[in-house]
Amino acid sequence: MNATINLEKKHFPVLLNELVKIISPLYGGTFIDCTFGQGGYSNKILENKSNKIIALDRDKDTEKIAKKFKKKYGKRFIFHNSKFSNIKLIKSRDIKGVIFDLGYSLNQIKDTKKGLSFNSQGKLNMKLGLNDFSCHEVINNLDQKDLFLILKFFGEEKQAKIIARRIINFRKKKIIETPDLISIINSVKKFNKKKINNSTQVFQALRIFVNNEISELIKGLIGAYNILPIGGLIAVVSFHSIEDKIIKYFFNYYSKIFNNSRYLPEKDENNKYFNVINKKPIVPSVSELKVNPSSRSAKLRCAIKTRNGCDFVEFYDKFKYLTSVEELKLKLWKNLSQYLQFCL
Ligand SMILES: C[S@@+](CC[C@H](N)C(=O)[O-])C[C@H]1O[C@@H](n2cnc3c(N)ncnc32)[C@H](O)[C@@H]1O
Repeated sequence: MNATINLEKKHFPVLLNELVKIISPLYGGTFIDCTFGQGGYSNKILENKSNKIIALDRDKDTEKIAKKFKKKYGKRFIFHNSKFSNIKLIKSRDIKGVIFDLGYSLNQIKDTKKGLSFNSQGKLNMKLGLNDFSCHEVINNLDQKDLFLILKFFGEEKQAKIIARRIINFRKKKIIETPDLISIINSVKKFNKKKINNSTQVFQALRIFVNNEISELIKGLIGAYNILPIGGLIAVVSFHSIEDKIIKYFFNYYSKIFNNSRYLPEKDENNKYFNVINKKPIVPSVSELKVNPSSRSAKLRCAIKTRNGCDFVEFYDKFKYLTSVEELKLKLWKNLSQYLQFCL
């Protein structure tokens, strides 16, 4: 489960005080809230009248909350129902910071139509919004090897091979719906010593795949860098190790000092692209964990842009092994176009 989900079913913006402490020295300008959700971060930032927010969210349902914000904050608030991979389309000057709070919120997990919870009934979905394909198409069309790769790389699921095989066998009998997937997983993971639900890793893997979460994050981070002026800040709250690995590499690798020429011996402090604010990620305090225990996996990393002109070649290369798994979705397009040709 995502960290914004609380047992008392109340929404708590995760690491809000810590985030405000870091961004408040930059107040007096525009902040981009890439993951508007319930508006917890935006609301706090807008409390300061010198701030403006441009908010994005891929889930159309968040528009209802955005409309209330528009009424309350007028010109100081703009919302786009958009994925943050499109952040490069924002034309605004004086951007002080770009903020990401990854994953999904309580409202989304409570919405059984979205199929993010293990208790959902009927067709598999998992779409957060603006998707091409749902989990239904993925589970019922991709082959065993593809499903194995998704479960292995995005769920770090130890039983990926056998679960993928059982999915294919089950498919020969009937179309797989949410309860079928749960019983397939339970048939493999009978002896669970851990406290987490048997289906957690498989659901995480499928949600990442369905929503292209790896490519979204990579494009979002690079887009944020590109629209920020020097001195602008990027802050990211993440909830699982794959996301954190990507964010950590992005900030740490490009905060090394790069020489303009490899023949130059001396290193120039001005030749790095970021100043990392916190070397170690910021995690929830004991008091936050008490109020919102599911925030336990949250990590906040922040950096200030210090130089223009980075092409991020190493970053793309480093995570090609993950983005290439997301590209398996292209096979679903191929299946669809073959089917349409057959119908015509
Ligand atoms: C954890 S919630 C954000 C909660 C928010 N910080 C608050 O305080 O209310 C994450 C939100 O990000 C949205 N989201 C996830 N991936 C996205 C993407 N690639 N582009 C835009 N929005 C995205 C989800 O729809 C969800 O509403």
